[in-house]
Amino acid sequence: MTIYLNGQFMPIEEAKISVLDRGFIFGDGVYEVIPVYSRKAFRLGEHLKRLQHSLDGIKLANPHSDEKWATLINELISHNRAEDQYLYLHITRGVAKRDHAFPNPPVPPTVFMMSNPLLTPPVELLHSGVACVTAPDNRWLRCDIKAIALLPNVLLRQRAIDAGCAETILIRDGFMTEGAFMTEGAASNIFVVKGGKLLAPPKDHLMLPGITYDVVLEIAAANGIPNQVRKISAQEVFAADELLLTSSTKEVLAITQLDGKPVGGGKPGEMFTKLYHLYQEYKHDVMRA
Ligand code: PDD
Repeated sequence: MTIYLNGQFMPIEEAKISVLDRGFIFGDGVYEVIPVYSRKAFRLGEHLKRLQHSLDGIKLANPHSDEKWATLINELISHNRAEDQYLYLHITRGVAKRDHAFPNPPVPPTVFMMSNPLLTPPVELLHSGVACVTAPDNRWLRCDIKAIALLPNVLLRQRAIDAGCAETILIRDGFMTEGAFMTEGAASNIFVVKGGKLLAPPKDHLMLPGITYDVVLEIAAANGIPNQVRKISAQEVFAADELLLTSSTKEVLAITQLDGKPVGGGKPGEMFTKLYHLYQEYKHDVMRA
């Protein structure tokens, strides 16, 4: 597999970084995951905009212009045989003697990219939906930054795996109490469907502004699907007719079981079916354009 590291394309076996890299020592960096369909990066402009937001959030200068990123990304895609790929891009604050404070003067950032075949959910999973668990959202207060420091997300997602489930839905501020509300999944965004309406939590500092989340809301608006962006209480999650999960790698999935109980009818619902098909159509239209 060919990867990109600090200005060079090389076989992954030859890629080496220093043990003093601040990404390794502190998790001091940000990343992006960009889906590639038919060798074209999906929503590249939006992913690069979110990357800039993450870099600004950690006060790290963007090493490249958007044009340069596009060139590097397209070259990496061309090195990979798969038509559909899952491109991972990662920037850290570089290599320096261990000190929490930023290196002064700044050192060159470490820039790493790799691309693997994209495996979207198999058809059985589309038909069955997935099971999820809930857990208190114990992450920091800047979840809008796509930080490589993912230990809380790793631990939260593992709770789902340990329970034989696919994802953990995160609840802030009191978990089972009155003021508790839903933020997102450990590695995905979550939508609630109630009475034919699609509900999405607001993009604030408590969730990652998902690119797939945006696409789903745009598709809903363009197709006359009633939708609303607002704070969603934990109670509303448990009383949902349908729950949906979105991410670049999972696209749109139905959540049919929550904490061991069926969601709505326990099968993927009407809203899922509609949005899933609209999403696939949208994807193909964009790729053909
Ligand atoms: N994760 N929220 C979190 C915490 C995420 O990690 C992700 C994506 C999303 C969905 O964002 P998008 O639609 O832009 O993929 C929401 C990626 C796929 C990952 O870390 O592998």
